[in-house]
Amino acid sequence: MAGQIPFHKPSITQAEIDAVEAVLRSGWLTSGPKARELEAAVTKYVGSSDSASPSSAPGTELHGVALSSCTAALHLALIAAGVGQGDEVITSPYTFVSTGETILYLGAKPVFVDVEPSTKNLDPSKLDSALTKKTKAIVMVSIAGHPCRTQEVAKMTRGRNIHIIEDAAHSLTARLGETPVGTQADITCFSFYATKGVTAGEGGMAVMGREDWADRIRRLCLHGLSDAAWSRYGSGGWWDYDVTELGYKYNLTDIQAALALAQMARAEEMRKRRESIARRYTEALRGVPGIKTPSVAPGVRHAWHLYQIAVARAAPVQTVGNKASQEEGRGTGRDALSLALRADGIGTSVHFKPLHLFRWYQERLGFSTGQFPVAERCFEETLSLPIYPDLSDSDVDRVADRIRAHMGASK
Ligand SMILES: Cc1ncc(COP(=O)(O)O)c(C=O)c1O
Repeated sequence: MAGQIPFHKPSITQAEIDAVEAVLRSGWLTSGPKARELEAAVTKYVGSSDSASPSSAPGTELHGVALSSCTAALHLALIAAGVGQGDEVITSPYTFVSTGETILYLGAKPVFVDVEPSTKNLDPSKLDSALTKKTKAIVMVSIAGHPCRTQEVAKMTRGRNIHIIEDAAHSLTARLGETPVGTQADITCFSFYATKGVTAGEGGMAVMGREDWADRIRRLCLHGLSDAAWSRYGSGGWWDYDVTELGYKYNLTDIQAALALAQMARAEEMRKRRESIARRYTEALRGVPGIKTPSVAPGVRHAWHLYQIAVARAAPVQTVGNKASQEEGRGTGRDALSLALRADGIGTSVHFKPLHLFRWYQERLGFSTGQFPVAERCFEETLSLPIYPDLSDSDVDRVADRIRAHMGASK
């Protein structure tokens, strides 16, 4: 059998290793100068000059707060937006658990709106019926790296005192037209998790136009202390601090920040490689029966965090005479294809099982299967293929060839 093709492999060069080593030798490991540098690098990357944050005037400077995860960023963003007990927060069920759980941490109620089949992002045409007097915020999720229609939703809710938060865990390098992700919502939350386009191993960032919110998130991520260690122990610092509100331990270490900074310097190059892999898959899988390749809306620059195909639930049975595929054709559909790829040493994954299908959400919150049919159908069909900068063209071809064979496509 040919070598393994893992679902993901991080792209780590000597630059990342040197950057982390320098921090280890520096005498300062926790949040400090590197975390601040990362905040500057990310806000510069997403662009402050054409900021279109609905809560701030165009051209407003962006503020970034480096955090331990995107989950932490979502939690603190919701607090900054004033979400609390009894409020309603609209989001899509087609997301990772972080989006839902952070709403629940605050005693607020997640209200789901079904997704668009083409992008799996919240469908703005279905938003109206979910809006109530209790709606305090909307969390838009950009799945796979395809930006969501955040600005459209912001326009629809203008004047209603509803804050828009974007869960952009997948889409740091994405743009919608000329507008970078990170400038469309009141607060945008990014992830530097191990598999993300820019990684710190674990990490995240909240980016926003409002300085008062950024200051509050900065305090909340360090126990609500009035002064962080870096300023207390730096030259001219003083030991004393106050606690101004109940906080959390959500800061990002300088070790992680240094790794993410080295990745930021390669963000564009890595995004381009992902884009070229996506193009190669799409070309190779064109016309394969039972397979739909991802669609990209006009004017979108996709981050390609994930390359998700849709596998028809009742895919055509293998063609007569194609012996190899008859032997391997153990049923059809997404899971059969995933198993066939696994047997050939190719890792795949599924993103995501919609939140309302989880037992906890059904038993504790009363959601039920069938409530969000588009999300459910997308989930049943979706399969994420390997996509990362170090994946070679021949690896891509091998994955595509195996899919073609399994689905009974002609050579
Ligand atoms: C859509 C989405 N939101 C939030 C998160 C949480 O990110 P983190 O692991 O940095 O907390 C993830 C993680 O993969 C995600 O996929």
